[in-house]
Amino acid sequence: MSTNFESLHDQFDREVASVSDAESLRALRDRWLGRKAGLVTDVRKQMGAVASEDRAAFGKAFNALQQHVEAGLDRVSAEIANRERDATIARETVDITLPGRAAPLGHRHPITILRQNIEDIFVRMGYSVEDGPEIETTFFNFDALNIPDGHPARESQDTMYVSEDLALRSQTSTVQIHAMQRRQPPLRVIAPGRVFRRDTPDATHNPMFFQVEGLNVAEGITLADLRGTCEEFVRQLFGADAPVRFRASYFPFVEPGCEFDYQCFVCKGTGCRVCKGSGWIEMGGAGMVHPHVLRTVGIDPERFSGFAFGFGIDRLAARQFDLDDIRLLFANDLRFLEQF
Ligand code: DAH
Repeated sequence: MSTNFESLHDQFDREVASVSDAESLRALRDRWLGRKAGLVTDVRKQMGAVASEDRAAFGKAFNALQQHVEAGLDRVSAEIANRERDATIARETVDITLPGRAAPLGHRHPITILRQNIEDIFVRMGYSVEDGPEIETTFFNFDALNIPDGHPARESQDTMYVSEDLALRSQTSTVQIHAMQRRQPPLRVIAPGRVFRRDTPDATHNPMFFQVEGLNVAEGITLADLRGTCEEFVRQLFGADAPVRFRASYFPFVEPGCEFDYQCFVCKGTGCRVCKGSGWIEMGGAGMVHPHVLRTVGIDPERFSGFAFGFGIDRLAARQFDLDDIRLLFANDLRFLEQF
């Protein structure tokens, strides 16, 4: 029985050429080298039947066949491993030139931005920042501020009462009293915070809004100090081209009292819809602390004097951020808030 080694070589070469993956490679290895029925194993089994004079040649041819098959299988195995590694690398490659996925970042609220600017300006002028409760007794909200019984500001139409004697504070002026009770003059504080009033929301009103209170009590404080401080504040906040105007006014806790306005940022003083034709926009009230108020907290008005002011932070925000409606500040609309 003769074995056609040449055709076995050819057959193997054909079969190995069609191997495409590890699976078919394993099948091919079994088919050729399998211990029981592999084609190469079959040939070896024929060895015993070969005539002794042919045996050496047969053995040589057999070895060549076996090496050929093993080498072919190893080569294809290496090729498949390479291809798989290349595919893995291609699949897992990170394209470092792709832009990253940006995580959405939070923003400071415009009121917070402005409040921090205001605090910075006053801290540079030697003021400290005070905090006070948002729910107050009528003593702090009214009595201590020289707002007498029967004053319209006490009416429940204006003030949000929590109980007979407790109300959501309607002004940050309450913190003046806390500050003066806690500390003796000389005293320079500002107190930014929320206040509450029964207002119907419109472009310039909201039932909850922000004020910043200021208080400076020492020996020899005058109205000129008040004026200089407020002008400097506005200059630092809005720049040199933002004139301020003072006019006489009345508040029970100051004497004399005044209101101050900044020049309208839209029309620059000529009069327009935003400033209702006056050319000026109101920032808040101020004045020299009333002797009654000083006496209430145990400060001698013969020795000490002081000024106080209260600005609407929302009104300042309107100027700072060019808002034509302060309700935008409280609507929690991300399209608005994300601009800051
Ligand atoms: N508290 C006043 C208001 O809410 C504003 C104000 C006026 C504050 C005069 C002051 C002041 O400190 O002296 O309308």
